[in-house]
Amino acid sequence: MSLINKNKLLDVAVEAALASSNLIMEALDSPKIIDQKGRTDLVTQTDKNSEKLIKEIIKSSYPKHSFLAEESGKEFSGSEYLWVIDPLDGTTNFVHRYPCFAVSIGLLYRNNPLISAVIEMPNIKLYTAVASEGAFCEGSKISCSTTSELVQSLLTTGFGYDHGELWNKNMDLFKHLTDLTQGVRRLGAAAIDICHVADGKIDGFWEYDLYPWDTAAGVLIAKESGCIVSKINGNKYNPHIDNNIIVANPNIYQKLLKELNTI
Ligand code: IPD
Ligand code: CA
Ligand code: CA
Repeated sequence: MSLINKNKLLDVAVEAALASSNLIMEALDSPKIIDQKGRTDLVTQTDKNSEKLIKEIIKSSYPKHSFLAEESGKEFSGSEYLWVIDPLDGTTNFVHRYPCFAVSIGLLYRNNPLISAVIEMPNIKLYTAVASEGAFCEGSKISCSTTSELVQSLLTTGFGYDHGELWNKNMDLFKHLTDLTQGVRRLGAAAIDICHVADGKIDGFWEYDLYPWDTAAGVLIAKESGCIVSKINGNKYNPHIDNNIIVANPNIYQKLLKELNTI
């Protein structure tokens, strides 16, 4: 595949992410909850509008590509290009105007991550990655941290909407890792959690109950910044099959993996 193609794909991903972030920021003062997928799993008109706009922008350049998006689901055309979209990650934060939400757009080619664009809001930060070409924040190359001891590390995790067995297990792990580190944060937007590990603000992230759109873009950004990504049991992570993930700098990855598997 030529470099020109990758550049155009990245440009389209960034154009869609920027348009979506403008739409989301304009709606911040009047979010409307229009649906609930569960007791606490909110859907706003902004989730829907953002997804529609992102798909329209991508389709205007690539009408034959496939899509997997949180609100509209699968739209498979048989193309080898699959756009995986979370039109608003951190909807609960957005509804409460808590300053931590994002748009996440990942492109897979033959099931391998190729292009990513994540925009953190409301303090806008554009994270991008192209396979084998590095990860960037606002155009500057980023690298994960080099922290090597858990006692010096800052971690983050998330809790899904299903308050079942894994949610309870993660409550225990939250306590366990809080005791071993300088702290465990719970931001409420998985795409941002992963980008914060990629740019070294956070040393490691794990979560049990995720969907492909939460991680598809972030995983490439994390890998391109030097992070190790795997399932919580240490096996290879595939966003289409696996709902649990660890993202960590290579120096603490094994230590975090061990602690996550002690309970
Ligand atoms: C959620 C956020 C949250 C994570 C949940 C996700 P949404 O996504 O990423 O941090 O803990 O597992 O479902 O619903 O706000 O797009
Ligand atoms: Ca999400
Ligand atoms: Ca979402």
